[in-house]
Amino acid sequence: QATSIPADRVPDMGKRQLLNLLLLGAVSLPTVGMLIPYTYFFVPPGSGGAGGGTIAKDALGNDVTLDGWLKTHGPGDRTLAQGLKGDPTYLVVENDKTLATYGINGVCTHLGCVVPWNAAENKFICPCHGSQYNNQGRVVRGPAPLSLALAHVDVR
Ligand code: FES
Repeated sequence: QATSIPADRVPDMGKRQLLNLLLLGAVSLPTVGMLIPYTYFFVPPGSGGAGGGTIAKDALGNDVTLDGWLKTHGPGDRTLAQGLKGDPTYLVVENDKTLATYGINGVCTHLGCVVPWNAAENKFICPCHGSQYNNQGRVVRGPAPLSLALAHVDVR
């Protein structure tokens, strides 16, 4: 059902142009942002189509940029970021100082504890019941039944 708007409520031309400008500004922002390489998680691996990705956020909730991350995380580093569906997900820095194209879901496949990275042991070791995963998240000791889930990481 159409309700007619009183004439005095219809924005005049000047206001409309202003609205259009504001709208344009809002739409342009993401375009400007695209100049900075941000880090995204995708699932399933390889589904790199536009949209659909989850931007990785650091522990403070800030968007992860490639440069910013590599500045503070060295080769071999595995640090949690906020990943797909809010699951804590490790971003992996390769030995050649590039960001790995996969992220490792930090949720233990046994009963769901978050598994810390143990750099000295070069493993993820679950504090809850002792499951262990190698540096790529492959399960090497139970009771965890499965390896840690992987997410595809892409820099846009
Ligand atoms: Fe990780 Fe049980 S929850 S070993």
